[in-house]
Amino acid sequence: MKLAQLKKMAADGEKIAMLTCYDASFAKLMELAGVDILLVGDSLGMVLQGAENTLNVSMHHMTYHTKSVATGAPNTFIIADMSLGSYEHDNEAAYKNAEWLIRSGAHMVKFEGGGSKVKTARYLVERGIPVCAHLGFTPQSVNQLGGYKIQGKTDESAQQILHDAIAMSEAGVGFIVLEMVPAALAKKITDAIKTPTIGIGAGVDCSGQVLVTQDLLGIYTGPAHKNPTEFKSPRFVRNFLKDTNSVQAAVESYVKAVKDKSFPALEHSY
Ligand code: KIV
Repeated sequence: MKLAQLKKMAADGEKIAMLTCYDASFAKLMELAGVDILLVGDSLGMVLQGAENTLNVSMHHMTYHTKSVATGAPNTFIIADMSLGSYEHDNEAAYKNAEWLIRSGAHMVKFEGGGSKVKTARYLVERGIPVCAHLGFTPQSVNQLGGYKIQGKTDESAQQILHDAIAMSEAGVGFIVLEMVPAALAKKITDAIKTPTIGIGAGVDCSGQVLVTQDLLGIYTGPAHKNPTEFKSPRFVRNFLKDTNSVQAAVESYVKAVKDKSFPALEHSY
């Protein structure tokens, strides 16, 4: 599917179903299951590499996995994450790294943060690189944010996220991922801008939803060095495999639940 079709879908009120994907076999399965967007997320640092966070993922990792996903799903829109350190310092380096992801098969690149990143977004968009912004909880800043915490709970922080979303939208980004923010704030942002929003832990009123696929299948039990019994899935996760009999059916059930707005329910939202 092309970006224009995805935007029309959002404008017509049809919810966009996005999932993370890191390899060709899952990409093919997801394309057949009707997933609208595949996100090659740097969450691969956690779910594929067994790390505690995304901080050690490199552009080599991201381009390697993007190539595999693009091979498996030639007809699906692919967004790929820019890894920590690949876009923050200067716009030319950001451009080179974004170009590397596009040459690897991504249709759009995603990076985290508002503020000074708005200029980076505008720089890339003006040079023909489609950009997805990522606001709210931004995993690459986990140390600065003091852990995996909901963002936008105070008036000041909610205002900041809204302000960043408007600025990113004006800079021309194609989508805005909103992670772990109160559902009411995500709705306010979605209503305030033309750019479609994709929520994860951000309530049902975003233009679409994304989940980490290993979470959706109930197979992620925390970093490799930790005992699985110590791990508790975040509130926004639902195991779609539990009530189905195959991975394909679980993915199809996720797509259906996003489209008919039964996921996320109140119990998955903040
Ligand atoms: O890396 C990732 O998978 C992401 C999603 C959680 C949105 O950024």
